[in-house]
Amino acid sequence: MTPNPDPDLCRSLADDLRGAGFTSEAVRSGWGEAADDAVVRGLRGPALRGLAGRDDAVAVLSRLFVLGMPQPAADVARALSRTGVEGLETLGLVETVAAGGGDPDARPLALIRPQSFSDARGDGEWWIASDLDETALGGPLPEDHVLGVGGASLTLAAIQLPTPAERALDVGSGCGIQSLRARRAVSRVVATDISDRALSYTRLNALLNGVDGVEIRRGSLFEPVRGETFDRIVSNPPFVITPRRDDVPEYEYRDGGMVGDDLVAAFVTGAGEHLAPGGIAQLLANWETRDGTPGLDRVRGWVEASAAPLDAWIVERESLDPLAYAELWVRDGGTVPGTPAFARLIDAWLDDFASRGVTEIGFGYVLLRRPADGAPTLARYERVAQAVPDQAGLGEHLAAALAAHDRLSRLDDAGVAASVFTVAPDVTEARHHRPGEADPTVIELRQGGGFGRTLSVDPALAALVGACDGDLPAGVLIDAIAELLDADASVSRKDMLPKVRELVFAGFLTFT
Ligand SMILES: C[S@@+](CC[C@H](N)C(=O)[O-])C[C@H]1O[C@@H](n2cnc3c(N)ncnc32)[C@H](O)[C@@H]1O
Repeated sequence: MTPNPDPDLCRSLADDLRGAGFTSEAVRSGWGEAADDAVVRGLRGPALRGLAGRDDAVAVLSRLFVLGMPQPAADVARALSRTGVEGLETLGLVETVAAGGGDPDARPLALIRPQSFSDARGDGEWWIASDLDETALGGPLPEDHVLGVGGASLTLAAIQLPTPAERALDVGSGCGIQSLRARRAVSRVVATDISDRALSYTRLNALLNGVDGVEIRRGSLFEPVRGETFDRIVSNPPFVITPRRDDVPEYEYRDGGMVGDDLVAAFVTGAGEHLAPGGIAQLLANWETRDGTPGLDRVRGWVEASAAPLDAWIVERESLDPLAYAELWVRDGGTVPGTPAFARLIDAWLDDFASRGVTEIGFGYVLLRRPADGAPTLARYERVAQAVPDQAGLGEHLAAALAAHDRLSRLDDAGVAASVFTVAPDVTEARHHRPGEADPTVIELRQGGGFGRTLSVDPALAALVGACDGDLPAGVLIDAIAELLDADASVSRKDMLPKVRELVFAGFLTFT
């Protein structure tokens, strides 16, 4: 069943949900933290225990729309008094079915989950409707499943730049979470998807959350926006690498129907011509290491093949070998480990990877920017494997790094030497000594925010960072440290200024 995003009914449902206090906090505290975490793992028993004996609105709505379980229609009508069960039926969110004892049940046709978020503009809460998940369906997902908010959705939402812009494109909008997030910073969003059902959810969720300025269009990748440019493009595309065989399911929500990582290649190569000057595209992606060519080098090839020259910052967050990758996605499709179907699917994935010489699959973030004027200046392809301390702050961190990069790229070394820097407040230093020795063998600078990077530095660079208190220019500090260490000042500048650039880009130092 495709939801029917009727504007009046969506407004009335939003009023009802608000009136009922149906927030993520109310749901979580209703059944307890451990039960809430168990729901994410597909276990709903603990949550039901937590709500035992309760028929208040939050409890009824939690069972109906978070767990996806039928509830007595009379209870639902009481919890959502403006919309009523009939309104929910018209929206395509429930159907009425006969139940034991004569009174009918309202059976959910979709989930609606409260979703809290936090960004540079403050904290907020959405209700996100999506298809019933595996637990609610009691079996594997259909191929046209419209996904709710998952880990990847939250990652892309968090890395979206908070800087204001006019127009954004959300490719593969699904339930619409990225469009809602983008609308926090931009005035208008075009949301596209190949699935009509997904677009109905995007529209429904925009209406439910009172977010205007989201236009929906159907079509593959950039087809619906031919000839148009945007200030932002965001996409959590269907990047999951899937063997192209009749006996392997093709899930619309995760698989774009192409061979290997071709969909990501098409996206990276094609995004540039849909970016306005200064426009930025951000997407999540997988890339294959093939025949000894590292995945990041292949991504570089796609960026370089773009008709519009692009700045690129590619961050590989993790990589898996073919077997681990296959197990991850066969499990995700709901096939049970240990069954013949599981073994057959794993073989299909391994054959597919072997046919292209794939030895590793990387996962990460892609950030592409069409320079506002002139040639690209940023080509950064890196692995950042450590846990990020605060995912919600990543969008701001990326924006600050880009701004720092732009400022640095306008400065020659003399300009950097003449600049005054301050050490960021989240930076700490750790010194490791061999027992009994006064001088450290390792000095590390650690970042509490951003990507949580740890850098090994020499004593001179540690002294420089320690002296960056917004007072003296970097060049003056480097010269003084060289004198203290009995080193040649010009050699020290040559050595340290590129390191200062890196520290500024990574957020350890900021321009004063
Ligand atoms: C992983 S989901 C992302 C949904 C949502 N944007 C999010 O972040 O949670 C990928 C979406 O891409 C859509 N899709 C699949 N193939 C596509 C294509 N060729 N062009 C555009 N969208 C596509 C799917 O229908 C699905 O809604």
